[in-house]
Amino acid sequence: MKTAEEKLKDFDAYIESEEKIEPKDWMPDEYRKTMIRQLSQHAHSEVIGMQPEGNWVLRAPSLRAKKILLAKIQDEGGHGLYLYSAAETLGISRDEMIEQLHSVKAKYSSIFNYPALTWADIGAIGWLVDGAAIVNQISLQRTSYGPYSRAMVRICKEESFHQRQGYEIMTTMMNGTAEQKEMAQDAMNRWWWPSLMMFGPPDNESAHTKQSMQWKIKRESNDVLRQRFIDKTVDQAHFIGITVPDKNMKFNESTQHWEISPIDWEEFKQVISGNGPCNHKRLSHHIKVHKQGKWVREAALAFSKNQQKNKATLFTN
Ligand code: 3HC
Repeated sequence: MKTAEEKLKDFDAYIESEEKIEPKDWMPDEYRKTMIRQLSQHAHSEVIGMQPEGNWVLRAPSLRAKKILLAKIQDEGGHGLYLYSAAETLGISRDEMIEQLHSVKAKYSSIFNYPALTWADIGAIGWLVDGAAIVNQISLQRTSYGPYSRAMVRICKEESFHQRQGYEIMTTMMNGTAEQKEMAQDAMNRWWWPSLMMFGPPDNESAHTKQSMQWKIKRESNDVLRQRFIDKTVDQAHFIGITVPDKNMKFNESTQHWEISPIDWEEFKQVISGNGPCNHKRLSHHIKVHKQGKWVREAALAFSKNQQKNKATLFTN
């Protein structure tokens, strides 16, 4: 029987070999714990993220825009289900994860605590929020936990559609009337900095990055991914003539990166501790709708139990 040290040594060697950790494999309790933490919070983010966009389905400016937005929101719900299912393979139940969300033991992405005030916000969310999510999630396709990595591969395919439809909305508005240009710029001004905060605190203040990188849960750090998003997005902004709300931003020819002003981490800390513009609204809505949907979950569970019973009797007769 191997000692705990020997098991940990084997685990680290297995991680080093770029093999995927699967649900039945031995893993350190801390790996399981931080994987559940990140996976469940990612799932919560996908589901809570449906709220700001859901508010605009009835106010979409055309049937085409409404259909695209509906498809996107439906995708986000599906992403949440993939990720909750991946988290369940680590031994936590859906009910426990929902309880952690409702009791504020678990977080969801800070970005969804900002209001979507105009139709241009739907463009900014698709372009900037999904754009940031793609940068992060492409990297997470190589995460060491098998079910998470496979979920990311599926999710990234849909995220690129989300980012394109958001950029299309912003492009259309920047080619529109003066009012539409102003609306798009206003949305950019409100969503730019919170989108940069999505990648998490600076590496030197990140509680989890060091260990998560050692275990290849995270393949690149918060700052590396944030910079990749900035470099990609600033060029897209210039292409459609929208201004990045950062007067001191400048391009460094030697590093080939855009250098930005300092991010307001106090705002970030306030938002992730529950004091953002929409934290209360988002959580109370989720709690209310979860309660209302109890009968649907019970009916679905009863139906599937019945199906299994019928199938079992089918094979025994
Ligand atoms: N919002 C809320 N909390 C955040 C955060 C954010 N943007 N960034 C960091 N935090 C929290 C962390 O969860 C951690 O708190 P905890 O210990 O209570 O969990 C604390 O701040 C320290 O941050 P770290 O950087 O040390 O934490 P991580 O190593 O977990 O890195 C992360 C944070 C980069 C968000 C990482 O968890 C991650 O990559 N998660 C998966 C991707 C994800 O969750 N994306 C959310 C957006 S989903 C989305 O956008 C849907 C799309 O379809 C629109």
